[in-house]
Amino acid sequence: MRSIPYIIRRATFLVKERGIVNSCKFIYSRYGYFLKYRIKLSKVFTPDQLNIQNIYAYKYEPIMHYSFNRMLKGIDWDWKESTFIDIGCGKGAAILLATRYNFKRYIGVELSPLLAEECRKNIRKFIGKKEIDYAVYNCDATKYTIPDDINVFYFFNPFAPPVLKVVMYNIELSLIRNPRKILILYFNAMYLPIVLDSGYKIIYAEKTDPVARYKYGNFALTN
Ligand SMILES: C[S@@+](CC[C@H](N)C(=O)[O-])C[C@H]1O[C@@H](n2cnc3c(N)ncnc32)[C@H](O)[C@@H]1O
Repeated sequence: MRSIPYIIRRATFLVKERGIVNSCKFIYSRYGYFLKYRIKLSKVFTPDQLNIQNIYAYKYEPIMHYSFNRMLKGIDWDWKESTFIDIGCGKGAAILLATRYNFKRYIGVELSPLLAEECRKNIRKFIGKKEIDYAVYNCDATKYTIPDDINVFYFFNPFAPPVLKVVMYNIELSLIRNPRKILILYFNAMYLPIVLDSGYKIIYAEKTDPVARYKYGNFALTN
């Protein structure tokens, strides 16, 4: 339980940055949205707290539903004919949100065993009796071979350039094996130049996210 002074300091900071309406949206998205499904994924964890021995891993933080939905609604793409992968899926917020778009299949890849297990539990809780095709792998993204039917790649600032470069290379290998049109959804896109250097073009750009205020903006790119 947080102390009252902490809550006041945090609320003041949020309102100064975003204004009252967007602060309320932030609090709802972070703490309320998934709670109505009895799913708790709001707490942020550093790699140290998760016992992750990987210097390139970034902290766990769930995506905000407003940011995710705004981007997907802003893109013309046939979600129902697509397979979605979240590389660095954490507790699964993005996969849960993606199920609302009726993808053919969902994949999560997560380094932390604890988060990967939480992710599986959260998916089962969220979908209830609905049948969906999904798999969550507990492994390092660099060791994961990209299946050749995946066409929607989602990243929420999961790792530093050495890992991102290997993953981009593995995507290229998959495209050589099976040439196809793909979409990259990159939230808080800290290393956008790496993706651009691989030849992808921006088709959606949000430099300032009004609610989440991710520092590096949100972008969708295609080949
Ligand atoms: C910012 S969180 C995003 C969580 C989730 N994708 C979402 O949108 O709610 C980044 C996640 O990437 C994971 N991660 C970091 N390095 C990784 C790696 N090398 N392989 C797989 N997952 C990794 C972290 O453990 C963390 O859960």
